[in-house]
Amino acid sequence: MTQSKILIKGARIVDPSQGINRIDNLFIKGKKIEKIGGSGGKDYEVIDAGGCIVTPGLIDVHTHLREPGGEDSETILSGSAAAVAGGFTTIMCMPNTNPPIDNAEVVKFVLDKASKAHCKVYPVAAITKKIEGKELTEMGEIIKSGAVGFSDDGKPVVSGEILRNALEYSQMFGVPIITHTEDPALAHDGVMHEGDISTELGLVGIPDISETAMLARDLIIAEYTGGRLHVCHLSAAYSPILIKNARMRGVQVTCEVTPHHLTLTDEIVKELDYDSNTKVNPPVRSAKDRIALQKALVNDIIDCIATDHAPHPPQEKDKEYNYAPFGMVGLETAVGLVFSELIHKKKLTLDAMVKAMSVNPARIFNLPGGTLKPGSLADVTIIDPNREWVVEARNFRSKSSNSPFLRRSLKGKTVMTIVEGSIKYSDT
Ligand code: DOR
Ligand code: ZN
Repeated sequence: MTQSKILIKGARIVDPSQGINRIDNLFIKGKKIEKIGGSGGKDYEVIDAGGCIVTPGLIDVHTHLREPGGEDSETILSGSAAAVAGGFTTIMCMPNTNPPIDNAEVVKFVLDKASKAHCKVYPVAAITKKIEGKELTEMGEIIKSGAVGFSDDGKPVVSGEILRNALEYSQMFGVPIITHTEDPALAHDGVMHEGDISTELGLVGIPDISETAMLARDLIIAEYTGGRLHVCHLSAAYSPILIKNARMRGVQVTCEVTPHHLTLTDEIVKELDYDSNTKVNPPVRSAKDRIALQKALVNDIIDCIATDHAPHPPQEKDKEYNYAPFGMVGLETAVGLVFSELIHKKKLTLDAMVKAMSVNPARIFNLPGGTLKPGSLADVTIIDPNREWVVEARNFRSKSSNSPFLRRSLKGKTVMTIVEGSIKYSDT
């Protein structure tokens, strides 16, 4: 078989793993990056990328692909199609499927489906059997079968003892414990952020202390055990302060924020008139929280931007606000939102974006990627920062379209996604 040869010409190459941010040519040969700059390119497929940005393939450490068991909302194949359309070459999928990814067999099932997917898909396995919070899964076997971390995401680990044991055992395998930090008693049956707007709308609120109180506990247990903790989807202004503080004490903690928590506030529930596509857990909070999260990202307190892509079918979401499930799709809008709301508004640099969406995810979860170094796998994303487009449900590759961003105009779009040297998405 002849090796594919691609020359991406004239784009701004942004690769913080090598301190590169300049206009140059990128050469791909077969599955690998050949070189940046220099001459050559005879018999290469030339992609004229003038005006575009080229980054190491984006990596999303938090998606829900619903397979097995929820194939009407998403499958590994459809979720991976949405991923490459969004510029992601690698994604991690959460274990709250049916059955859950809580044993080696289900990990193998997911990896088998992943081998036929549009991008690389790595499963996260459950911390506890059936995600019931009672008994640890067979962590050793699960890691051997190919999971990259453990999480009961969707639910907190309520028992401090279980979390302690998980943080102790997982050290043997060098993977983090990933927590959805929420005190269920404080969150009770809330459906949106607790504040003036929840009062005005007559909806039960989820206070920010439901996140921060549990986060403080998780950090203390991580400190005590010396284990590695990765905290999902921060939503509250006080959370990065707790993380920063814990890091200063030497706690091994990393964390993520979603595009929706970086760009929306609780106002959206009112603005979209109780549209259940705005219902997400943790909820989008106040402007103060949103600004604090943006600043924490800029200041390297938050490591990753992760989508928490959470597809739900219309028959589920078209319910009254109180009864609709939590979650919104995010793979196909992440780049557009980050460019429109952060990069173009000069709140985030391109380098910081690429760190949060590629370099750091690869480092934290020990995944291939996160770099354009010669000899590394050619996972590459090309973004046109000036492409204007409108978010439309009919254009989603995802099987679901539960997004609060429908009909929104965005500036900045993925125009090509290359996975191990082969073009998996193109909209040039
Ligand atoms: O909004 C959410 N949806 N938050 C979660 O933690 C779980 C997720 C889901 O699985 O739908
Ligand atoms: Zn999640």
